[in-house]
Amino acid sequence: ENSVSEVLHSNGVNDDLSCEQGLCGTCAVKVLECIPDHRDVYLNTTERASNATMLVCCSRSRTSTLVLDC
Ligand code: FES
Repeated sequence: ENSVSEVLHSNGVNDDLSCEQGLCGTCAVKVLECIPDHRDVYLNTTERASNATMLVCCSRSRTSTLVLDC
């Protein structure tokens, strides 16, 4: 199992990472399609529940397809 940012990097997409621990919010991307598995501590409860944004340094996808606006 890989984090989203690992997958992006291995596919040549350079996302913007800073803390890589789910703390700073630098790596937030807009979620277009998927249910994120939020593993960060940055998003608040409302943001998590909306599934509109995810932090790709540490979070994963619960669904097999993940569509992001990077
Ligand atoms: Fe800091 Fe992802 S790089 S939250």
